[in-house]
Amino acid sequence: MDAPSYSAKEAAEVLGLPLRTLQSALKLDKYSGVDLWAVRHTLQKFPSPLGHRRQLFLNFKGGTGKTALSTSYAWRMAELGYHVLLVDLDSQGHATKCLGFEGEDFEKTLLNVLVRKAPMDEVIQHSPMPNLDFVPSNLTMSTVDLALMPMSAREFKLKNALKDVGQRYDAIVFDAPPSFGLLNLNALMAADDLFVPVLADFLSFHGLKLLFETVQSLEEDLAHVLDHVFIIVNAFNQSFKLAKEALDALKTHYPEYMLTAMVRQCTKFAQASSEGVPVFLADRDSKGATDIDAMVKEVLARIEAAQGRTTTTARDEKKAG
Ligand SMILES: Nc1ncnc2c1ncn2[C@@H]1O[C@H](COP(=O)(O)OP(=O)(O)O)[C@@H](O)[C@H]1O
Ligand SMILES: [Mg+2]
Repeated sequence: MDAPSYSAKEAAEVLGLPLRTLQSALKLDKYSGVDLWAVRHTLQKFPSPLGHRRQLFLNFKGGTGKTALSTSYAWRMAELGYHVLLVDLDSQGHATKCLGFEGEDFEKTLLNVLVRKAPMDEVIQHSPMPNLDFVPSNLTMSTVDLALMPMSAREFKLKNALKDVGQRYDAIVFDAPPSFGLLNLNALMAADDLFVPVLADFLSFHGLKLLFETVQSLEEDLAHVLDHVFIIVNAFNQSFKLAKEALDALKTHYPEYMLTAMVRQCTKFAQASSEGVPVFLADRDSKGATDIDAMVKEVLARIEAAQGRTTTTARDEKKAG
């Protein structure tokens, strides 16, 4: 990917600063990711800590927007100043492509870590944003499920591998393949938060049942409880009657998981991925970029609210004790 380039107005918006403050810290015509990061350091303008969250975008169905949403979510989080690691789990390497790289150009993928015990640091790559790293994927990743099969503690390989690097990132974002296998089981076991992109149609709706059954069996059999589940409706087109009906059905069945934010149908996603850039660089005023931004804000608010609740509960318990 070419280095991202922000106008002064865009850079000020991304940093949440008045234009004048930005320009007094660093005056340029165009700002790169490195420049944004430098301004953050100069002004000590960092977001409040999130805890170190592992966030998985998963749906066993293909084409629901896992890659489009996970890559643009990761990018936006990095724009907002979080340290982010985007992990491409899909052997198609689409998330890698969305960042402007070709998976086949990388010698090592997560396969080396999960199966051959390479340290995570050997597979982490840097993006043009100083606070966004990624783990690329390519066709070799299609052998992971088989290779994990005979191993002991095979569901925990990814979770264990992340222990070394987890503290470095506010968010580790996984883009999952549309399959039901050991790699996705590993991803679920490693995840704190599950994001489920769905299309507002009834085929997607039925696919969710298997996903939630799997999540429930992880809780029961492997004692892994997710902190959050977010269902995010993608490619919504409200002029379709069926889409509205499917949306109502989702809201009725999964009210506690549904995000209010929805991502509307937007051709810029396809354009962005073909150009190898996140949607925010293809067109930051597009519906897609606007909706992802709203999704990020809602997710952050929900996580913060839950953390507030946890600290209050812990405090109350201490008082009571
Ligand atoms: N909100 C949207 N509006 C229009 N097209 C979209 C949207 N989200 C994703 N797409 C397109 O749909 C296709 C499938 O999306 P993708 O993210 O690759 O799905 P998945 O990773 O779940 O298989 C891609 O061509 C992508 O560009
Ligand atoms: Mg994908």
